[in-house]
Parts: sequence; structure tokens; C-alpha cells
Amino acid sequence: MNPSHTSLPRIAVLATGGTIAGQAGDAARTSGYKAGVVGVDKLLDAVPSLSQIARIHAEQVASIDSKDMTPALWGTLCARVNALLAQDDVDGIVITHGTDTLEETAYLLHLTVKSDKPVVLTAAMRPATALSADGPLNLFNAVTVAANRAAWKQGVLVAFNNQIHCAREVTKTSTYAVDAFRSPEVGALGWVQDGEVRFQRAVLRRHTLQSPFEMSGPLPEVEIVTSYAGASRASIDAFVAVGVKGLVIAGTGNGSMHLTLQAAVADAIKQGVAVVRSSRVGAGHVMRNGAAPDDALGSISADTLNSYKARVLLMLALSKGVPASGLQAVFDTY
Ligand code: SIN
Repeated sequence: MNPSHTSLPRIAVLATGGTIAGQAGDAARTSGYKAGVVGVDKLLDAVPSLSQIARIHAEQVASIDSKDMTPALWGTLCARVNALLAQDDVDGIVITHGTDTLEETAYLLHLTVKSDKPVVLTAAMRPATALSADGPLNLFNAVTVAANRAAWKQGVLVAFNNQIHCAREVTKTSTYAVDAFRSPEVGALGWVQDGEVRFQRAVLRRHTLQSPFEMSGPLPEVEIVTSYAGASRASIDAFVAVGVKGLVIAGTGNGSMHLTLQAAVADAIKQGVAVVRSSRVGAGHVMRNGAAPDDALGSISADTLNSYKARVLLMLALSKGVPASGLQAVFDTY
């Protein structure tokens, strides 16, 4: 195929840093390196065959280790994605990101991007300088997905290790393995290999154009508290004292929590703090009124969202002005 062929899709690659842009002093090192060092042009140079599948427009939006992601940078990224997708000459977007908070950024964009065009996040577990670096193939596959018509209207996607995941479901499940991402319970949406893209199921929850949420300013402060044997209420009381607007409990089992936390949650809700119950288990759903009396406490069930994604949805819902009485419907819908 002629690389300059103008009928090739035009894909914008937005780089934010991460291990995919990581640099180590020794090619055998896959830990102890610096993330977010290698620029987007170098990442693209490592994948010359991209010119066969898309016309690439590249931007360096940030150069961070994604553990340091902030809502302010989410706002910048979301605004840039929406502006690019509004252009007729952009067919899709790939975002390179660190693996550590990729699932949070992906879900935030899933709810705040206003377009049917594909947005695909990818990353790497090994730095760009490593032997058998996984970044170049993940980047090639992400662009392959973003350039494919089948990826339209699917919301924000994550292409990683040949799999395609829905932003709402995907989570990091390994600290070191190159197959680090899973979608617990529901599995991947499909796969990408050697230029082929196959979706095997649809995304049912609302997203992008069907989502009312937007990044229109600073997000309200929402914190996460974990329940465990002997948990104290000190963290909840401290968060309430500094004026948080919401709390997500990463509860035991079906979103249950230690009696001390349950008492602190009841007090927090009386002071106007929105409280969502999720589970620290890593798979499954949290039943409303299942392990804790949501109706009596005034708490909300996170359904199948993990605590990090529940925090994203709660921040967006509170920033939209959704009242306490409307929050459970939000968690049942998005
Ligand atoms: C990061 O999240 O930026 C560092 C870790 C990684 O990308 O795997």
C-alpha cells in the first residue's frame, strides 16, 4: 500500500508518558527505570509500519508516570480529544499512557468524550529500551483498532497484549506480566492481531454521546477508604473534616464494611457526604442492600465498578449536580 495514500484513516496519537515511554540504563531491566521519558516521535519511529495503516498526527500532551495523573491533566486530555474528534480530518485517537492509572483515565474519557469515533488507550509493561519491549506492538495494535470502522460507537477502548477491552470493565491485574489487563467477569470485547480487528461482544452501558457527563472544571474531592480486619474510622472522619464531597468504600465481599466504618459512614452521610459501596474483591457486583442496608444508611451500591472507577463516576456525577436521590440510578446506568 502506498504510505502517502490519502484514503488511509487519519489517527491522532496523544502521548502522556508511562512505561511505554520509559527508559532504563540497561536493556535487561524491566523495573527501576524512569517512566515518561521517550518522546512521541521516537515511539512512532519504533513502529515504521504504522505508515501502512494510518496517517499519523502526533502530540505530546504530557510526559508523566501515570501514578501522578491529576484531574487537571484529565481536563486537558479530554478537551484535546474532544477538539480533535470534532475535526472532519481526524478519524480516531490513540492515547499512550502508563498502565498504573490507565483504567481511571479510560473510564473518565468513556464518560466525557462526545464522539462516536474510536478512542483507544494503550501502554506497555516494559520500558521502550527493554529487550522484548511490548510497547511497539501494543501501539501498532492500538492504531489498527482506532483505524477500523468496527471500533466506532464502542466508547473508549483499551488495546493491550492483542486484546481489546471496554474502558468501563478493564483493570490492571499484574505488577509485571505483559498480559497485565483483564476485564473481570465479562472478558475482553475482542482481539487485534496482524492488522485484523474482531469484536466478539457489544458494550451495553451508556457512554460518550449517551453520557451527560463532562470535564468542565475542577472535580469535587472524592476519596477511597478500604475496609479490613480492625479498620478504624479515623480516615473517614479526617476526610469529612477536610470537606470531601464523596467517599468510595472498597468494602469486603459484597461491599460490606467493618462496624466502625459503617458508623462513620452513617455520620458522614448525615453531614452531606455521598458514600458509594464497592468491593475490594476484584470481580463481581455489589448488591444494593446486600451486605449493608443502603436504604437505611443512605449509601449507594457501585454495582460492578471497582473503587477507582466508582470514584471517577461519583466525581463526575457530583460535578454535574446529581442529588443524593439520583446517584443510585447513575451507578445503575453508567
Ligand atoms: C506508569 O503508569 O506510568 C508507570 C507504569 C507503567 O506504565 O507500566
